Amino acid sequence: MIYNTFKKLERKIYSILVFSFLFLSGCDYDTNQSALDPKGPLAKDQFKTFELSLWITVILFILVGGALLYALFKYRERPGDENKPMPKQSHGNPLIEGLLVIAFAVVLVILAIPTLKGIKMMKELPEEYEKDAITVNVKGYQWWFEFEYPDLGFTTANEFVFPVGKAVKINLVSNDVIHSFWIPKLSGKTDLIPGQENFMWVLADEAGEFYGQCAEYCGDSHAYMLFRAIAKPQEEYENWVSNMLKDPTKVAENSTIHDSHFKSLASKGEETLNRVGCLQCHMIGDVGGIIAPNLTKFASRGTLAAGWMDNNTENLKKWIWKSDQVKPGNLMYRSVEQMNLTEEDVDAMVAYLQTLK
Ligand code: CUA
Repeated sequence: MIYNTFKKLERKIYSILVFSFLFLSGCDYDTNQSALDPKGPLAKDQFKTFELSLWITVILFILVGGALLYALFKYRERPGDENKPMPKQSHGNPLIEGLLVIAFAVVLVILAIPTLKGIKMMKELPEEYEKDAITVNVKGYQWWFEFEYPDLGFTTANEFVFPVGKAVKINLVSNDVIHSFWIPKLSGKTDLIPGQENFMWVLADEAGEFYGQCAEYCGDSHAYMLFRAIAKPQEEYENWVSNMLKDPTKVAENSTIHDSHFKSLASKGEETLNRVGCLQCHMIGDVGGIIAPNLTKFASRGTLAAGWMDNNTENLKKWIWKSDQVKPGNLMYRSVEQMNLTEEDVDAMVAYLQTLK
């Protein structure tokens, strides 16, 4: 009887194993938000701690699971065992129990040392990186990120650029609820909390566009609260900075636009944007409000709607006009609804925004 039950169970275990294998094989090391593919010293340190704890738990799993399987197979009931006398029963073994307590204490200490070191490393920039570091102040909003460069005097949103191989000191606060700042390939998470400034830093040791994500549930569109951390070689970074510091060019004075149809459309868009009051919330250059994403050099960004969509004509039109379909609950939607924009207005505004390079 027990033997048959065991056989049935055995088949179940096999099917679970096969299913898990097929299911888990969808996982990949090298996705945009994979913490298993670290690209900087901090992320690599955290990954080492992860690997250590992973291997310790794998070894413990094999030891405990192996002992269990050994006992199950060696001492399982076999046909004919019913007639044998009951084996000697025992309870407790102070020696084994004492040794296990000591062994687990040792394992915990082995895990605690790199973990505590890692926490200290994340919260304090190591001295070797201090000299070249830049500072970025990050503020979380429902549902986007503001990036201020206090030493350079400008602010941008949802994408921040920094030089490869140099540390970025990041001060984190929130405008509303608790968010969490996470760039899986560069570092673990740190919360953005209203009324409290938190610190972390990142360093990328290769150029690239790293995906970031808010990692704390913060309302309707939490899942759409992304950002990009873009590491550029020093010279490209400096070009980016000097472009950010240039005043935005009025469409009429913009000599880089050669298509006259596009130019008149963009010009109309500039007028519409000023007329309907977009700049009560958004800022372009040093004109405008600060409660919505800063749009200075907006067209030089690769994404829009906080890293959620590629920044192209079709998406931008949808985002301005039907933003509730892209990000439920976003604050822009209601204001735009009250503006009674026509499709022509939106096309013109899209053209204008595309001139902000
Ligand atoms: Cu912000 Cu989740």
